Amino acid sequence: MRMKKVAGIVCGFAIIALGVFAFSRANSKKDITEKVFEVAEKQYGELLAHSTNLSRYPRTIDGSGKTSYVDIGDWTGGFWPGDLWYVYEYTGEDKWKQAAIKWTESLEQNQYNTAHHDLGFMMYCSYGNAYRLTKNEHYKAVLIQSAKSLISRYNERVGCIKSWNSKMSWDGKTLWSFPVIIDNMMNLELLFFASKVTGDPVYKNIAVKHAETTMKNHIRADYSSYHVVNYDTITGKVLNQQTCQGYADNSTWARGQAWGIYGFTMVYRETGDVRFLQTAKKMADFYMHQATLPADKVPYWDFNVNQAGYTPQWNNKQSPLNYIPRDASAAAIVSSALLELSNDLGTEGKSYADFAEQTIKSLSSPEYLAKPGDNGYFLLKHSVGSIPHGVEIDVPLVYADYYYLEALLRYHTKKKSL
Ligand code: GLY
Repeated sequence: MRMKKVAGIVCGFAIIALGVFAFSRANSKKDITEKVFEVAEKQYGELLAHSTNLSRYPRTIDGSGKTSYVDIGDWTGGFWPGDLWYVYEYTGEDKWKQAAIKWTESLEQNQYNTAHHDLGFMMYCSYGNAYRLTKNEHYKAVLIQSAKSLISRYNERVGCIKSWNSKMSWDGKTLWSFPVIIDNMMNLELLFFASKVTGDPVYKNIAVKHAETTMKNHIRADYSSYHVVNYDTITGKVLNQQTCQGYADNSTWARGQAWGIYGFTMVYRETGDVRFLQTAKKMADFYMHQATLPADKVPYWDFNVNQAGYTPQWNNKQSPLNYIPRDASAAAIVSSALLELSNDLGTEGKSYADFAEQTIKSLSSPEYLAKPGDNGYFLLKHSVGSIPHGVEIDVPLVYADYYYLEALLRYHTKKKSL
């Protein structure tokens, strides 16, 4: 009787051990994209269940670790529907499509927003993906109107779209009356789209001119970048080259460099003009070969924090931090951009694709990828919104997730084609 019981227990253990072994083998066979999208389905399932107000868009977490939200005018509203579109694209499941449609359509009013330059982020990440994946003609019309609103901020004399309305610099000495930020390169994709679908070159011409002016005035001789360039609208001349979200006026803010790499790669795709390809490549070279880039390829929030020769104009003594935070959002943007750039560079592209792969692997490790149920139901931990403003320090950010998922989809496509 006793022997029978022991044999039964041993047998039970053996079955459990076999089950665990089979599960971990099946799991280890999953590729990185599959594993991350499984986490995305869990996290975003929860985020959808907790986000019932369609005028409040998930962006990050608050001090107590709970999801926090912004309203329709915020620059980040389009990333949440964009995240949902990417999950739909990967899974093909109708429930994600329905959720993506619902959140995309909640942004419709933004097509008339002319308050800032971020219409590209807001509308192309939401409606742009919606149109790409559904071909719904109404979405196309919304995108065209959004492009019209965006070009209303273009100044011919300057050759740029104005990013923000007037704003004071950190040193309190300058009122920027026509500030253009490197981030604005990202909003140009909407304009290229509008020219393609309308046949009207006005949008594309403005995008190309904006990119040329940015190439001239935002990019330094070593292919690092200024965050903000302020222009004189009478003469079109540069008045100031400074920072708003970086460490110092002459430093390189990691996400700004990331926007530039991604933006110029995209403008090369849309124009075939090798000047833009060279700019993207050299900006990427700068980023990839920085001495201060950690081994896991996830950068500190600015490449020059605490270095001699870089003096913040904001009050960095207020910072309660005893470490320099990383910015996973910059890493995500760069990995997505490099996967595209590597395709444009022929055999030379391999080192850029390898760098992207290493970054994706780091981001997909437990150090950066959240455990289901944690992190306000976002995917990536350890991003930075703006240290000079004292906000969103070492937290999840909805746009870090967006470019991470995009990078994974590009990575998946590239792997399949090998
Ligand atoms: N476009 C604003 C940011 O990157 O924080």
